[in-house]
Amino acid sequence: MPPTDASPAATRTALDVQDLSAWFGAQPAVRGVSVGFREREVAAIIGPSGCGKSTLLRCLNRMHETVPTARVEGRVLLFGTDVYADGISPIALRRHVGMVFQRPSPFPTMSIRDNVAAGLRVRGGGAPSRAETDRIVERALRRSALWDEVKDRLKASAIGLSGGQQQRLCIARALATEPAVLLLDEPTASLDPISTQKVEDLLYELRSEVTVVIVTHNMQQAARVSSSTAFMLAGELVEMAPTARLFTAPADARTEAYITGRFG
Ligand SMILES: Nc1ncnc2c1ncn2[C@@H]1O[C@H](COP(=O)(O)OP(=O)(O)OP(=O)(O)O)[C@@H](O)[C@H]1O
Ligand SMILES: [Mg+2]
Repeated sequence: MPPTDASPAATRTALDVQDLSAWFGAQPAVRGVSVGFREREVAAIIGPSGCGKSTLLRCLNRMHETVPTARVEGRVLLFGTDVYADGISPIALRRHVGMVFQRPSPFPTMSIRDNVAAGLRVRGGGAPSRAETDRIVERALRRSALWDEVKDRLKASAIGLSGGQQQRLCIARALATEPAVLLLDEPTASLDPISTQKVEDLLYELRSEVTVVIVTHNMQQAARVSSSTAFMLAGELVEMAPTARLFTAPADARTEAYITGRFG
């Protein structure tokens, strides 16, 4: 999807969400959310359990519609192109807008190398050559700060890795298709502090290359990794602001109540 937005590169919006609502059956989970995620920023989404963070995230790369009763209204523009327009392939879209889930989800029967290469099959123009695949796998593993730990066992099973390594492997798998946007849904929730630190360091490195949207329950993590933070409540976006401001001088009393621990 080529960029169509003519605004200066530094301020371009990668994902422009317009009046987005999402349902499971008759039950609304996201209500009229409008929000923009800028190119090459790390944005965090916080809010109490069940407020619709994961659902919003899953609408951004059309994962929501994989739930049978799910429905979406509104628009999501990726560099100006509506990802819900006729003729947009959700599979192709997910190459541009990659996703990593809470629990590490490597393909258990595949090697480390093949896990990273798994998304390449759906790239336009057929599968890359073996040498090209090796090059892409190495680059993705280097970008996800895992290369040095796995370079001597690329053919070994991915389930022999630690949880933190598996999560970085999943990030490498998402990066292998060179996405413009990376969606992370509580990526460190099941990790120990050292692995969490590695993933956070990685996000810091990636911020100059991709747009990252991270859902987290950990407000300290949001404060550490993101430049802007969105607060959601009961399916609605309450506010989005530069992270430092949201945590020190939120505009909305509900945000203040949440960040000071008065509910959630
Ligand atoms: N597969 C599903 N089928 C039906 N309802 C669902 C499904 N997934 C989520 N919901 C409902 O949609 C609403 C939003 O859920 P969502 O998972 O987006 O919240 P969340 O903010 O990510 O919560 P958490 O912090 O616990 O992960 C909740 O009311 C939830 O019960
Ligand atoms: Mg969730």
